[in-house]
Amino acid sequence: MTKTTFIETSAHKRFVEFAKTVCRDRTIGLCYGPAGVGKTLSARRYAKWDIAEPLLESWGPRDPSDEKVYAALARSRTVFYTPPVATAFAAVRKDLNQLWSRVEACIDQGQPSEDVKIISSRNRQVELFIVDEAERLTNTALEHLRDQFDRADIGLILIGMPGIEKRMSRYPQLYSRIGFAHPYPPLSRDEMEFIFRKQWQKLGKEFDTDDFTDVQAAAAISRLTGGNFRLLQRLFNQIDRILHINELREITDDVIQAAASTLVIGAAN
Ligand SMILES: Nc1ncnc2c1ncn2[C@@H]1O[C@H](COP(=O)(O)OP(=O)(O)O)[C@@H](O)[C@H]1O
Ligand SMILES: [Mg+2]
Repeated sequence: MTKTTFIETSAHKRFVEFAKTVCRDRTIGLCYGPAGVGKTLSARRYAKWDIAEPLLESWGPRDPSDEKVYAALARSRTVFYTPPVATAFAAVRKDLNQLWSRVEACIDQGQPSEDVKIISSRNRQVELFIVDEAERLTNTALEHLRDQFDRADIGLILIGMPGIEKRMSRYPQLYSRIGFAHPYPPLSRDEMEFIFRKQWQKLGKEFDTDDFTDVQAAAAISRLTGGNFRLLQRLFNQIDRILHINELREITDDVIQAAASTLVIGAAN
């Protein structure tokens, strides 16, 4: 898989605002949106998890280069957790506690040593917990999180698919503490256009809003993907493939239809 460069979308900026508010108010925030819009990437970015995850997972002998992880976590003060599918509550609790204390330890490492002595009573550094794929949590796990949240005075963000807010509403204990519900939006028109420009550039062409073929292509792609990042990427991968095997250089409506027919996307939903 090719590594994509992160785009600072308006949806991401709004997520950052949301996360800061949840953190500041030490409340519970619910973030929901269809699969593929970019929720996970936003949350990982906010938590600086791409930098921190390898160290947190291996937890091996230290290396001078780990300093950058300490610094990143000292800035984010966030734990990002994805519960595995169908996992017993005991395992989830163990994972969570382990991750939490490791992040705490990293943040402590990044502090000047006098400060550590004053504040390093257990679990005082982390300010926000983000749980991705929150629908995987059992009711017991949700209740545990809620309890941890109450005790530790931290913010908690639960990320899930649309409908998660309805499930949560069945748990008054948790639901009454939810401060914000944040729908994660798809890409805007302008952002789609930005991505079109890049894709056209890759083909050595310029996306032209005065050119009928380009406008038609853009409209078809927008309609097929609904501004969903993952669908967009998959569609462009197929478009590239079709252009390549047919030795074409232009993204026409036919190419797009052929690309779409190889994907199971149909109309955006
Ligand atoms: N801000 C972004 N910049 C670049 N690519 C992104 C961005 N957000 C999402 N993507 C792409 O879309 C895919 C789906 O994003 P993801 O965060 O996994 O969605 P979700 O968690 O909402 O299902 C990612 O694998 C990535 O390729
Ligand atoms: Mg996700």
